Amino acid sequence: MLLDGKKISEEVKAELAVEVKALIADGHRAPHLAAILVGNDGASETYVASKVRACERIGFGSTLVRLPDSVSEDRLLQEINAINNNEEIDGLIVQLPLPKHIDEQKVTESVVPEKDVDGFHPVNVGKLVLGLPTFVSATPKGIMELLARYNIETSGKHCVVLGRSNIVGTPIANLLSRNSNPGNCTVTLCHSRTKNLADFTRSADILVVALGKAEFVTADMVKDGAVVVDVGITRVEDSTNPSGYVLKGDVAFDEVEPKASYITPVPGGVGRMTIAALLQNTLQARKNRIKPN
Ligand code: GUN
Repeated sequence: MLLDGKKISEEVKAELAVEVKALIADGHRAPHLAAILVGNDGASETYVASKVRACERIGFGSTLVRLPDSVSEDRLLQEINAINNNEEIDGLIVQLPLPKHIDEQKVTESVVPEKDVDGFHPVNVGKLVLGLPTFVSATPKGIMELLARYNIETSGKHCVVLGRSNIVGTPIANLLSRNSNPGNCTVTLCHSRTKNLADFTRSADILVVALGKAEFVTADMVKDGAVVVDVGITRVEDSTNPSGYVLKGDVAFDEVEPKASYITPVPGGVGRMTIAALLQNTLQARKNRIKPN
């Protein structure tokens, strides 16, 4: 069965739109998200455009700051600082990756934690590890929401995560191992140095794949009845498509789908949930500013 990120993200966005109306009825302004896009990487352009469009659809304000590839680190930090100090803006994301001459860590740390709706700042990552309220980064938050809304049983299950990135693999491994629902999984975090990878994946009740390698997980690597969450979204050249490419997940969907009890499609799976979760964080940032806690 499909874990339909398109459908569930529409539900989440409809709920957010209602909350925005209620905020405004109470005399507050709508949540406002600012996004900084450096350069013109095709995929990043698409992601940022989707985020801005999603804001508009549910009644959030949005600001897109575009900077050239050649922008200096100092200039970028100045832009971030201006947004940090702008009372009209609740959330700020800097789309990654950044050009090589810019220190990503420095940029991440320059966003004030209160506006860091991507949940990338070390303070917010630390709070996540401690289980304190924070902005959980959007992709892992979206996956948790998807599992919750499909009532997927996770307690006591073996969850295998492929990929140990700071923005997906590491936080989702943490969230699923927590004493919570969804959660209470026994988690194995696999990565590029893992030996006998398929032995791990075949023992997974829940398999979360965040490698960025198109169609890496094949049917022989998956247990019958597994829940498969595919975070990959790679552009693969395809001259028969007007755009010149097709989007592929990290899972060979057609062959894995018959074995899986639940599986996310690409597109229409995790990507949609990432955007919905970012919007949830932005609403939370707005509420925090109305009533500081
Ligand atoms: N690049 C890939 N995923 C993300 C994300 O969730 N947020 C930002 N800012 N950049 C990304």
